Amino acid sequence: MRVLVTGGAGYIGSHTVLHLVGAGHEVVVVDDFSNAKPTVVGRLEELAGRHIPVHAFDLADAEKLDVLLAQERVQAVVHFAGYKAVGESVAQPLDYYRNNLGATIALLRAMQRHRIRPLVFSSSATVYGPTPRVPMTEDLPTSATNPYGWTKVMIEQMLRDLTAAEPQWRVALLRYFNPVGAHPSGRIGEDPSDVPNNLMPYVAQVAVGRRGELSVFGDDYDTPDGTGVRDYIHVDDLAAGHVAALEWITTHDRPLSVWNLGTGRGTSVLELVRAFEQASGRTIPYRVVGRRAGDIASSYADPSLAEAELGWRATRTVHDMCADTWRWQQANPEGYPS
Ligand code: UD1
Repeated sequence: MRVLVTGGAGYIGSHTVLHLVGAGHEVVVVDDFSNAKPTVVGRLEELAGRHIPVHAFDLADAEKLDVLLAQERVQAVVHFAGYKAVGESVAQPLDYYRNNLGATIALLRAMQRHRIRPLVFSSSATVYGPTPRVPMTEDLPTSATNPYGWTKVMIEQMLRDLTAAEPQWRVALLRYFNPVGAHPSGRIGEDPSDVPNNLMPYVAQVAVGRRGELSVFGDDYDTPDGTGVRDYIHVDDLAAGHVAALEWITTHDRPLSVWNLGTGRGTSVLELVRAFEQASGRTIPYRVVGRRAGDIASSYADPSLAEAELGWRATRTVHDMCADTWRWQQANPEGYPS
């Protein structure tokens, strides 16, 4: 298939581009590079061993989108593009609603005009809201605690309404747990533009000496060691999940599908720190500080639906996630060159 990947220069997008190419699909990327560096493209082409057409514009530009969908003869879309920093979304909610919802509506309208039906949407386990039951199953009610999370809930709702009105759509909502790790080559990985908000990139920057110590946000949660428990998933497993979902929706007649992409295993902050120390041979100094607003104690997937329907499951271990993150961080201590 000829697949358009929106946000294909970003962290999860770039890894998914490689997996799509590896599975024999033709990939076209659209990215406005508001949170990605253009140098990722050369590295992707080097790893893919082929040219990857990249269009640099904002998805909200309907005219450019029309030209792209027609010229590139796009048959399916994997939609990653969006802002994703929780704290920033609280400070600038309108930017988040305008960008994430606006781009998605523009994309859906363009897909309607060109009669492109398969869409894989990048959702998040954040849609399970502040008090989820764990392990989380896809039938739990959705809600959010911040504008970023609400954009995911709202886009899911738009896609429910759209597929109910027009059942010819083939949509997959993929709810990611905590994506970490990097391509084993160390050539592509996560490159936060500012101080990392998320645990793994922060730990990696401490290990490489860019930051002094990790702040552990609370050790008084109702978890085995008191620190937050999350379901970390290797970005290459996640990318493989997108390929499996795309292939499923294009061979089955269901307008809307929802799948968790996680490992089903929880790891605490301190367990992750220890695993990273082992994989890197470096000590990670840390200090326990207060809880971060909006955090929950435990989040992990019930990934059995994706396994039963897609035949997909995550295979990479926490050690693999740390070793691959470390290889990327060591080779690119300052991230991608600008
Ligand atoms: C966060 C977002 C979530 C988003 C996800 C992926 C919040 C509240 N949630 O999830 O909406 O979908 O990222 O981008 O921001 N931790 C530390 N020190 C740090 C960083 C994190 O102790 O410097 C702890 C956290 O308290 C948590 C765990 O590490 O227990 C994982 O945190 P993080 O990587 O930010 O992911 P989430 O909070 O699960």
